[in-house]
Amino acid sequence: MAGPTRRQWFQAALPAAALLASCKSVDKGARGSVTVQEFGKLPNGETAQLFILKNRNGIETAITNYGGIIVTLKTYDARGLLADVALGFETLDGYLRPHPYFGAIIGRYGNRIGKARFTLDGVTYTLAKNDGENSLHGGVEGFDKKLWKARTEAGPGSQTLVLSYTSPDGEEGYPGTLQTEVRYTLSDDDSFRIDYLATTDKKTVVNLTNHTYFNLKGQGNGDILDHEIQINASRFTPVDEGLIPTGELRPVEGTPFDFRKPARIGARIDADDEQIRRGRGYDHNFVLDREGEGLSLAARVIEPSTGRGLEVWTTEPGMQFYTGNFLDGSLVGKGGKAYPRRSGFCLETQHFPDSPNQPAFPSTVLEPGKEYRSATVWKFITAQPKK
Ligand code: BGC
Repeated sequence: MAGPTRRQWFQAALPAAALLASCKSVDKGARGSVTVQEFGKLPNGETAQLFILKNRNGIETAITNYGGIIVTLKTYDARGLLADVALGFETLDGYLRPHPYFGAIIGRYGNRIGKARFTLDGVTYTLAKNDGENSLHGGVEGFDKKLWKARTEAGPGSQTLVLSYTSPDGEEGYPGTLQTEVRYTLSDDDSFRIDYLATTDKKTVVNLTNHTYFNLKGQGNGDILDHEIQINASRFTPVDEGLIPTGELRPVEGTPFDFRKPARIGARIDADDEQIRRGRGYDHNFVLDREGEGLSLAARVIEPSTGRGLEVWTTEPGMQFYTGNFLDGSLVGKGGKAYPRRSGFCLETQHFPDSPNQPAFPSTVLEPGKEYRSATVWKFITAQPKK
């Protein structure tokens, strides 16, 4: 059966997302702002900074140029209460210790590359195996662990943090010097946009994303199983035991992966299903039902008790939906909160995992003289809370 049209998809969403006129009090004269402070020192003595972007309505995010990590993200619920919806740490030290990519920019290649190698023009490139046999999220020292150059830009109705990093030829095994820019823009229309831009001096592969873990009840407030999610995808990429795509684009119809109508994340997360068992829950790339070239609505999530919601729009063909199955409560985050299993979810907009080894998938190859461009928008919304 063909997937729903855009219109049917929106209609299906209406009961969950009967969007409220926000009841927060907005000071018409208020303006957005950016402030900067020191976040901490890296082992090599360099200083990481923390940039605090605020929009005129009071939505606020704090981002460090270490890993481009989104440290806090405060959004409104239906009653006008702000909560920090991003998992993470209060200090730089938290991010310097091992953690599962909280809030970070992921590069050069978001997600997995099978057997940690790929071949371009007859040359085989070998990457570090940091996930069993495979390479995950750019390797041992990916973009999440780099100190990025930072500057800010203020536009009419928006605040932007521009981060840049030059990855040397051969870094983590990848060919080509990669000039990378990531722009984070918080706007007065309550959207947060991420623009990725890269160029290379040798043929290479690129797949950049952001690894924020959301909990729309507020970070540290239990699991995310009651959140209702709708994903605009009629197919997904099933995986083998090592979470590498088999190459198939499988219809979601009749599987626990069918989120074309809103459903509780927890409803089928432990279903008797081979793919669910392999991911220990959801840890899969969805093939988005895109329309056109530009930003297309990929997902909508509503937390029913607060009415706090999020839409994800992207130019990418895929999105990894990961339900924090490997979180185990051992990390202590902001406010001394523990992060148990499934206490956050990620919506990682991306090209499909292992594309460099899957000729039928959309290509992740970047050639000299060409530009890699990708954009994702998180739109903060509210819906009538369910009691
Ligand atoms: C992957 C998970 C992994 C997590 C943290 C996600 O993007 O899909 O398998 O455990 O990142 O590393």
